[in-house]
Amino acid sequence: MREIKVGLIGFGTVGKGLAEVLLTQKERLIRRTGMSIRLAGVADHSTAALPDRFSSVSLTKNAADLITDPDIDVIVELIGGIEPAKTFVMQAIAAGKHVVTANKALLSEEGAEIFAAAAARGVEVGFEASVGGGIPVIKALKEGLVANRILSIMGIMNGTANYILTRMTDEGIPFAEVLQDAQRLGFAEADPTYDIEGIDTAHKLAILMTIAYGTPITHKQIVTEGISQIEPMDIELAREFGCRIKLLAISRNHGDHVEARVHPTMVPQQHLLASINGAYNAIHFQGDTVGNVLLYGLGAGMIPTGSAVAADLVDIARNIACGSIGRVPALSYLPDQMQSRRITPMD
Ligand code: HSE
Repeated sequence: MREIKVGLIGFGTVGKGLAEVLLTQKERLIRRTGMSIRLAGVADHSTAALPDRFSSVSLTKNAADLITDPDIDVIVELIGGIEPAKTFVMQAIAAGKHVVTANKALLSEEGAEIFAAAAARGVEVGFEASVGGGIPVIKALKEGLVANRILSIMGIMNGTANYILTRMTDEGIPFAEVLQDAQRLGFAEADPTYDIEGIDTAHKLAILMTIAYGTPITHKQIVTEGISQIEPMDIELAREFGCRIKLLAISRNHGDHVEARVHPTMVPQQHLLASINGAYNAIHFQGDTVGNVLLYGLGAGMIPTGSAVAADLVDIARNIACGSIGRVPALSYLPDQMQSRRITPMD
């Protein structure tokens, strides 16, 4: 039986989630793919040994040990941030290895360069886990909705912010206390500023817009306001108006230009998005042929996000088995559209 060997850089929350998913789903993945997807090595700066159940996995502090290992087929980058993540990803691509990453900051800033390098080298970069945690949103957009012009994207895309707003609203717990809980539960980024200031949501919206509208967009072009200034009084006021406050990402495609913003929004209690609570995400697309599509699920957390990384590994494993690439949706756009679009903030 063919074995696909995975080198994992970063054994934090999502890295541990991936390791657990590959272990607990091992037999199922073999049955479904006819291949074994094995975590062969982990690179992490921590000195802690891997738990006993991963005794067959080698541990190194040096990512280069995995990137240069000729036996490793796929490098999974789960350290987050721009550097050294970008260097590791580019080195892995140059070494002819497929890459899987959950790094939305990296893709929303450096995606064009990374995907160009991968295309030139004939390898793939999977990034399902970068948006929506465990929800297969990238696959839905690139494959299920491929025969659509996407007219709008709207949703709750940050589990931490939604968890904080939910508990502030339903339990009256102060912002700082709920944020600590979100960090303890593994929802928040290493730097939670990204979650609470809306930057993580803008990273994700930029990735979705790039795919949906055929326009390269970075989060810096998106008007962004987070939830750090939301006070109990705001939540009470929203309640008096029959609303709940949600951090929304909103974007519309006008053909010659696109609009995008991220900010706290008063959502009427009867609206579907008002009932999305805790670390859940909900992402709504409007397509010109399909109409409305709503994807819902856990948008953060160790195991759900590990499940999305594993899905990319399965796609890559199937590609390796049939000796081709193209199964993994790329963060790509049509060059002729690049000139013709501008991004404007919404009124
Ligand atoms: N910190 C992110 C969130 C993790 O809370 O949504 C998933 O991208």
